[in-house]
Amino acid sequence: MTAQIIDGKAFAATVREKVAAHVARLKEVHGITPGLAVVLVGEDPASQVYVRNKGKQTVECGMNSYEHKLPAETSEADLLALIEQLNADPEVHGILVQLPLPAHLDSDLVINAIAPEKDVDGFHISNVGLLATGQKSMVPCTPLGCLMMLRDHLGSLSGLNAVVVGRSNIVGKPMAQLLLRDSCTVTIAHSRTKDIEEVCRRADILVAAVGRPEMVTGDWVKPGATVIDVGINRIDAPEKGLREDGSVKTKLVGDVEFASAKEVAGAITPVPGGVGPMTIACLLANTVTAACRANGLPEPEGLTA
Ligand code: GUN
Repeated sequence: MTAQIIDGKAFAATVREKVAAHVARLKEVHGITPGLAVVLVGEDPASQVYVRNKGKQTVECGMNSYEHKLPAETSEADLLALIEQLNADPEVHGILVQLPLPAHLDSDLVINAIAPEKDVDGFHISNVGLLATGQKSMVPCTPLGCLMMLRDHLGSLSGLNAVVVGRSNIVGKPMAQLLLRDSCTVTIAHSRTKDIEEVCRRADILVAAVGRPEMVTGDWVKPGATVIDVGINRIDAPEKGLREDGSVKTKLVGDVEFASAKEVAGAITPVPGGVGPMTIACLLANTVTAACRANGLPEPEGLTA
């Protein structure tokens, strides 16, 4: 039997609908329009695409989008001054500084300059600590999206064995915290883990977030497991032929080898169309949550962790 494919694109659309409905209510009843400020430093092409998509979807949900594009050579002082200004701006409920930043800027310093209650990425050390201690926080968007899909598919996660492959601050560590909070038995595996295949084969929930194309193969997967693939890797696809300029065409693959894993798993997210669309949807959700909290209003239902 092949796995059920978890449709992240469709799920993300339902999250955006909930966000839009909540935004409409905030405007009508309270006269509040949530606002998200996105800061992009430099011209990294992938980051430009992300930032454009974020801005577009923010507006489509009825929120205000403020884009700040700064040159690659922007000084730390100038960037910190902009963040100060956004921190103080009551129209701005969420602030996101697109990563990676140019090498001369200290990302930790910059991220920790964002007011924690406006840190819709959930990367500020205060939010990291609040999540780890089970207090109300901003939750990082990609892990939040994974959690929403897992709860939707499995219902209660209590008592399940969860293995997170990857220990990044953006995905692996916060994902492990969220799974622990939902009463999973959590293992974080990484490049130095002994017998990593064996560790993964014990997982009822397997989250792959390492950034290595198709590393997790079907023989790493426990029969019936739920597999969440966070990876987005562009690799050469010679089978697709050549472009006009003679270069090899490429394709997107995850950290999981989809073809073999789907023969073993109970359910699996595809790449593209799995976790990816959920990330921006959760950013929008976090912005609404931040706007509600800033105004002492109840949290939007179904949009928080
Ligand atoms: N770059 C890649 N992913 C992310 C993300 O989730 N947030 C930010 N700020 N930058 C990113």
